[in-house]
Amino acid sequence: MAKLKHVLVISFPAQGHVIPLLKLSHCIADHGVKVTFVNAEFIHAQVMAANPGLDNESHRIKFVAIPDGLISYEERKDPIKMLDSMSRVMPGHLQELIEKVKQSNGIEDEQISFLIADVMVGWALEVAERMGIQRATFCAPSVSGVVLALHIPKLIEGGVIDNNGFVLKNDLIRISKDLRSYKSSDLVWSCPEDPATQKAIFKCLSSAAHYSKFSNLVLCNSFHELEASAFSAIPGALAIGPLIASAQLFQCRGSLRKEDSTCLNWLDQHPALSVIYVAFGSTTVFGPEQFYEIAYGLEQATQPFLWVIRPDITDGAVSEFLDGFLQRVRNYGKVVQWAPQEEVLAHPSVACFFTHCGWNSTLEGLSNGVPLLCRPYFTDQFLNKSLICDVWKVGLGVDSDENGLISRHEVREKVSAVLGSDEIRANCLRVKEMARKSISEGGSSLKNLQSFIELVKA
Ligand code: UDX
Repeated sequence: MAKLKHVLVISFPAQGHVIPLLKLSHCIADHGVKVTFVNAEFIHAQVMAANPGLDNESHRIKFVAIPDGLISYEERKDPIKMLDSMSRVMPGHLQELIEKVKQSNGIEDEQISFLIADVMVGWALEVAERMGIQRATFCAPSVSGVVLALHIPKLIEGGVIDNNGFVLKNDLIRISKDLRSYKSSDLVWSCPEDPATQKAIFKCLSSAAHYSKFSNLVLCNSFHELEASAFSAIPGALAIGPLIASAQLFQCRGSLRKEDSTCLNWLDQHPALSVIYVAFGSTTVFGPEQFYEIAYGLEQATQPFLWVIRPDITDGAVSEFLDGFLQRVRNYGKVVQWAPQEEVLAHPSVACFFTHCGWNSTLEGLSNGVPLLCRPYFTDQFLNKSLICDVWKVGLGVDSDENGLISRHEVREKVSAVLGSDEIRANCLRVKEMARKSISEGGSSLKNLQSFIELVKA
């Protein structure tokens, strides 16, 4: 009897990476291919705790954890320490895991024939090559962002950035004649508020450029029609997005926090296109002052809003303020700690999405035709904002004042501007239609995904 094919998928330990890789894993498993999903131990524990439904998947997808060499939350808060430890400790554990599968008998004897590694854990590709396993890279960010990461050596050589990714020349950056120039603020390792994190992310992305030689296939969660020229700048890039959570996956798509579904009933009680959805992803942090301004802006806009306030969204104590705020907005505001975001964005009552422009959030907004209000926080989010506002014209930036703060006035103004723009809404519907077509029968991304799965099964 022919053995099942077996793919190993290894994620970078962060929310915006686990969710899209898990969606891809589901697509692969749907075609009768066995999937082992590998995560660092600490994040594996969070995924399993927040998604009890994943137990039912164990016959299709096996979830496995390997150590990252760190023991405490405090250690992992230091990005340099964390990325360093991961790349030193995890390759050995990954190799052991693959060898264990090879040696074991019975149901486990389907050897791993293919490995898909997140672009941020490129060292896994080297392990796979050494062990004679076929491999592909998976990119969680936009293709336009990946182009920049893969061109880091050239940017250093050309004197555009230094060896730590800091800008030396503030000119527009031209990668190729077919590609729109990048602004220096678009560099996908930018962390304006935190140079240490910037250095760590830059180092990790530089190693992505190094490890790219171990895989000639790059799977991208985007679609060709959205980023055609960026796709042409990466040899081997395959558009397979937008990866969408199927209804069955909605319940267990890999959130690291428990989703609060009460907001869906709350949305049901609102008219079509009336609610502002506000969510800044998994890592954005605001100082209390910025947090208050956003809160006052939403309060004064007097439009119904659903706001995701993670317990760690501010670096100050805001609970007293929050009590008063919630009391004042009780007739039109709803706050949750974590939402089932894709279901929220697909809800007819949602009129716009105030976002940090993480790539997953961006794609989820685009796929649902929702206009975006952009307040990027770090890394690729600045580039995503440029694409949203300047290229696809599906949203507006929410700008900081001279003190670096987004004022309540700005929030109010931009909410009303985005809701009032027929042009933005028309562009959103056009992009939504393109996204839908690309993953429908005969669409570009679906065809690519199907041919990739055929390759895996061959
Ligand atoms: C980060 C980067 O910003 C992103 O661009 C990169 O590609 C991956 O890492 P993050 O800050 O987590 O990601 O944002 P984003 O990419 O938008 O991913 C967040 C995910 O969490 C989305 O899939 C979103 O649906 C989900 N989410 C967010 C929820 O399910 N509920 C919430 O309440 C908020």
